[in-house]
Amino acid sequence: MYIPIILGTAREGRESEKVARFMLEKAIEFGLESEIIDVRNFRHEATDNTKTSDQARRFKEKVLKAEGLIIVSPEYNHGYPGELKMMLDMLYEEYSGKPVGICGVSSGVFGGARMIEQLVQICVFLHMVPIGEVVNFSRVQDLFDENGAIKKESYHDRARKFLGVLTGYAETLSCGKDAKS
Ligand SMILES: Cc1cc2nc3c(=O)[nH]c(=O)nc-3n(C[C@H](O)[C@H](O)[C@H](O)COP(=O)(O)O)c2cc1C
Repeated sequence: MYIPIILGTAREGRESEKVARFMLEKAIEFGLESEIIDVRNFRHEATDNTKTSDQARRFKEKVLKAEGLIIVSPEYNHGYPGELKMMLDMLYEEYSGKPVGICGVSSGVFGGARMIEQLVQICVFLHMVPIGEVVNFSRVQDLFDENGAIKKESYHDRARKFLGVLTGYAETLSCGKDAKS
């Protein structure tokens, strides 16, 4: 099952990259085919939903192949990064019926909770199916050691539970697709 991880910030020095790498490791351990889709490689100067750019074509190919998506995003001023929204806006119907799990990242205690609330609304409009299970990576600046290993053991279980719910949705939703065709 291919479930890629969208890394939603291009900020220089981003801590969220460590979270995306941790989630990639957990996804592979879980038996998934996965990769990080880094927003840095899918940027436009302005919103472009023509699907004619090389970025849009590459992103479309990955989204169409995916049975679900994981979004790892920091919270910026209680919202999601602008570059993540511009990336998502490149496509539309390609997302339809795909389950999406969101991992929030912040330096504060809420782990991106307010960003997640907003991102869920966008995902619903894009006809994705956001799962109720989320992982909040709070105080991210203290969460990883110098080798990028997570210091709090509990995140391993949280990530496994999150992946279990997400893949459960992916299986159920793909059964629905077979029934319709
Ligand atoms: C423009 C900007 C706005 C931010 N706003 C918030 C915020 O609303 N809430 C919060 O908890 N952290 C906020 N932060 C801090 C981030 O949580 C922090 O940078 C953390 O490391 C995750 O983001 P990163 O992947 O860019 O490092 C903000 C950071 C930036 C750069």
